[in-house]
Amino acid sequence: MKAATGIGAAEFARRRKQLMRMAGDDAILVLPAAPERIRSHDTHYPYRQDSDFWYLSGFPEPEAVLVLVPGRKHGEALLFCRERDPEREAWDGPRAGQEGAVGDYGMDDAYPIDDLDEILPGLLEGRSRVYYHFGRDADFDLKLIGWVRHVRAQVRQGAEPPHEFLELGHLLHELRLFKSRDELKLMRRAADISVQAHLAAMRAARPGIHEYELQADVERVFRAHDAWPAYGSIVGAGANACVLHYRANNAQARDGDLVLVDAGAEFRGYAADITRTFPVNGRFTPAQRALHDLVGAAQRAALAQARPGLPYEAGHNAAVETLTEGLLKLGLLKGKLEKNIADGSYRRFYRHKTGHWLGLDVHDVGDYRIDGESRLLEQGMVFTIEPGLYVSHDDETVDAKWRGIGIRTEDDVLVTDGDPSVLTDALARNADEIEAAMAAG
Ligand code: GLY
Ligand code: MN
Ligand code: MN
Repeated sequence: MKAATGIGAAEFARRRKQLMRMAGDDAILVLPAAPERIRSHDTHYPYRQDSDFWYLSGFPEPEAVLVLVPGRKHGEALLFCRERDPEREAWDGPRAGQEGAVGDYGMDDAYPIDDLDEILPGLLEGRSRVYYHFGRDADFDLKLIGWVRHVRAQVRQGAEPPHEFLELGHLLHELRLFKSRDELKLMRRAADISVQAHLAAMRAARPGIHEYELQADVERVFRAHDAWPAYGSIVGAGANACVLHYRANNAQARDGDLVLVDAGAEFRGYAADITRTFPVNGRFTPAQRALHDLVGAAQRAALAQARPGLPYEAGHNAAVETLTEGLLKLGLLKGKLEKNIADGSYRRFYRHKTGHWLGLDVHDVGDYRIDGESRLLEQGMVFTIEPGLYVSHDDETVDAKWRGIGIRTEDDVLVTDGDPSVLTDALARNADEIEAAMAAG
């Protein structure tokens, strides 16, 4: 199984144990696999397992439910999954079946998914607390309510229905926030593949190339390394770079344009998330370079805050201060630094946050604030640092040379016990490095 997941069976078992210990002996935890989704008529989107389900099982199939029952004598980790079916398997490929769930995925016991209705009420009975993700899958929410009602209907026969319903994410996402050695290996691999992919795009760039051609160069490298795009790749030339979630990727880059590429590989479920902005003709103009340098300075300022014991938000604050100071120097903002920060004037050019947790999900799970305060960084956390500047093409309050320039520089950072480790460090980052990388292509 390790080949398919990159994570050993012992680690999956350890995660389940840890979660059960956090939940307590009177709890039960219920996690459905991701449903298959229709793309059109009778074809589906490529299947992607639910990240929480994957984190606890490494089980790749749809139509499955993981049930964890801490302290249960006849087995704590139970998987409901599809039965083997030679006719279906001839069309869709092999299924693990119940035997595989136990033998290959380390479950204590496994049942056919069709027996869920029959067995689940009995497992809920006598457990006081249910941990589950409410509101993620409306169909499954209704099923769970039905099973609970089933137990409630038998109170007079002595049944004890659960009486507390808790958000599973509170416990599970705290675990997922801290990456293990095996997880970091996969994340480094996703980062390395993404570095190669960005380099391929830089080298393919030339005036007249279409955004989708550059997207193809990036994603070819992903697939060539057994990876997928972790999210819809963004390739924006010229003013398209100012559209934060630009996805059309269908314009042509003109001589003199910058191109912003925000793309990351997903390898064995783990995401990388990189942005680089480069001149399509290989040379930055002075105005482009000035803003690119400023974004780089903001990124370095944020990176200096990526240390254990410092608040997560310190990175964003440092980036905002650096950007605002630079915008004042360049004449894009006017007035006092403190005032521009306090009244949010800088948001005209920088409207997003400086990063997010990274892991199985590109915008990974985990709280950013605890009891109303920014949480403190700890070893093993991974997040992005992605400051940017975006000057609208029709902003007549600024000198014409700045208009339509959009720049973001994004890297992936691991908090260690000392200096942060930049997983995506190998990719050309500042203007000189980018020009050199492009010239070498
Ligand atoms: N690619 C999504 C992000 O940068 O957050
Ligand atoms: Mn990001
Ligand atoms: Mn990104």
